[in-house]
Amino acid sequence: MPRFVQFDEFGSRDYLHVVERERPWPGPGQLLVRVMAAGLNPMDYKAYRDEAAAARMGVTLPSGIGQDFSGFVEELGEGVTRFELGQAVLGTVPFAAIADFVVVPEDGQVVAKPDALTFEAAGSLGVVGRTAMASFRSLGIGEHDTVLVSAAAGGVGVLAAQLAVRSGATVIGTASEENHEFLESLGVIPVEYGHGLAERIRDALDDDRVTAVLDNHGADTIEAALELGVPMDRVNSITTFGPAAHGARNVGGRAAGNAELSELAELLAENELVLPIDSIYPIERTVEAFARLEPGHVRGKVVVVTD
Ligand SMILES: NC(=O)c1ccc[n+]([C@@H]2O[C@H](COP(=O)([O-])OP(=O)(O)OC[C@H]3O[C@@H](n4cnc5c(N)ncnc54)[C@H](OP(=O)(O)O)[C@@H]3O)[C@@H](O)[C@H]2O)c1
Repeated sequence: MPRFVQFDEFGSRDYLHVVERERPWPGPGQLLVRVMAAGLNPMDYKAYRDEAAAARMGVTLPSGIGQDFSGFVEELGEGVTRFELGQAVLGTVPFAAIADFVVVPEDGQVVAKPDALTFEAAGSLGVVGRTAMASFRSLGIGEHDTVLVSAAAGGVGVLAAQLAVRSGATVIGTASEENHEFLESLGVIPVEYGHGLAERIRDALDDDRVTAVLDNHGADTIEAALELGVPMDRVNSITTFGPAAHGARNVGGRAAGNAELSELAELLAENELVLPIDSIYPIERTVEAFARLEPGHVRGKVVVVTD
């Protein structure tokens, strides 16, 4: 029987479990996808840990989990023309991706997977890819910029930082010491996050000034931006909303769609960008996969696979 990971109570990852379900059927205009890999995102654990956060995301119990998937088109609903049987695809569905099968609207968030892209990377790209692209593009970053990217080794940050590097900008990224060599390999100047961040950035950049900020972590980055005199209309945060944002922009994943996803998938397939896979778990060990993600120190993505 096909497997589907769900939770029936809020509180912790311990309520996640694998259930067996009848194979779903695609309705008119829908695809049935046989899932190969499903990447995890912080929004998944925010939903199962916190009922109020879940309500804001439209989650009700029992709920599936997982947004991003890659796999093969197993069946076509009536009237589907954009995809063919057996085609490899990647995309995003709300809270249902960690499963053997997902049903996706043909006009939803789903695109062809380039052959050269692994299922693990493809199945991890949806949320972080659209978010990184939307955030990067929101500030019109280019070669005259010096860009601060926070959490630059995380899922969104690692892509946002590389997009900024590709634009010709000088990029400085926050990470723990363990990720500094890795960031340097991407052309990013690493700097440790935490108390004294603005001072360390000044030291690392000599006379250069930060002109734009892509924040993927929160208020501490915005505070550093204020201290460094970066105008708030050149700060985009995907995590800090409300007064703590001090007028920074809040452009997130919803501002990008399939075109951006395809573009990123091609760049990854051509090795123009890197999306590191931190760890891979079989679907039966989804709880362990979330235990790896939740402390917030992964490099790139944690992925669950079905085979
Ligand atoms: N608005 C949107 O559309 C949107 C979309 C996607 C994600 N988000 C949100 O954006 C955030 C990042 O998402 P993600 O998927 O990139 O998360 P992630 O992959 O879990 O981020 C992990 C990274 O965070 C870094 N980190 C940990 N503590 C830090 C600190 N105090 N300061 C700076 N960096 C720190 C870690 O670096 P070290 O390992 O070196 O410690 C690690 O590389 C999450 O809150 C997520 O919910 C928003």
